[in-house]
Amino acid sequence: MNERLKVTPLGPYIGALVENLTLAKPLSDSQFEQLYHALLKHQVLFMRNQPVTPVQQRDLARRFGDLHIHPVYPHAAEAEEIIVLDTHDNNPPDNDNWHTDVTFIANPPSGAILAAKLLPETGGDTLWASGFAAYDALSAPFRELLTGLRAEHDFKKSFPEYKHRGSEEEYARWKLAVEKNPPLLHPVVRSHPVSGRKALYVNEGFTTRIVDLAPKESDALLSFLFAHITKPEFQVRWRWQQDDVAIWDNRVTQHYANADYLPQRRIMHRATIL
Ligand code: SIN
Repeated sequence: MNERLKVTPLGPYIGALVENLTLAKPLSDSQFEQLYHALLKHQVLFMRNQPVTPVQQRDLARRFGDLHIHPVYPHAAEAEEIIVLDTHDNNPPDNDNWHTDVTFIANPPSGAILAAKLLPETGGDTLWASGFAAYDALSAPFRELLTGLRAEHDFKKSFPEYKHRGSEEEYARWKLAVEKNPPLLHPVVRSHPVSGRKALYVNEGFTTRIVDLAPKESDALLSFLFAHITKPEFQVRWRWQQDDVAIWDNRVTQHYANADYLPQRRIMHRATIL
């Protein structure tokens, strides 16, 4: 059996299409290794026509590491590790901003696997940006300025109180999540734990301030960095089809879920790898 994956880059910096594998079945060690290396190289991988159940998606994600259980998002009945992002007019999305998943914890997730379950007729694309490419594009003196700076990341920035007062139960879950996830610090520039390559590591979704700077300096620098990451040169944009799956390296990327599809409905399943 030919187990060689076909990996086609979708641009010079980020993104690749992967073919010749079936994610619903357990991957062989060779397939997993090829997938893992493609992920390290391209940062986000896309696979077409991969219907996976929540349990199959969870099992695939577990090959990469332990899984995170989200403090507020609902999960699939069959697997609490699979977040259900079911968005529509009465539940508008909250991920239409540039963010890296779950940077509000001390050891943020290394990756995620997202499966398209129900798509609007048009719209609902997701964009990923490479923190490597964004960092590399900065001038040497500017990179020097960022070195050693620490930024605060806060759960409440993406999950504000006013959005979580729907029911007593939802509000209690939110309050517990706030209690368990106080703001914490991460470096503004981080090194990839495998390659050592440097990447920009602030995201608009969760980063509130650079604690080593005066507030106005922090505001100015963050607004520059948040704008910088949105340069199309650093990005790949995926137009979803039913049963597509994306896998990304959450340590060096950020993403934006385009919210142009309302009032249509869109359902995605996400496994988050620690
Ligand atoms: C996410 O923000 O993790 C999911 C992205 C999407 O729904 O496209």
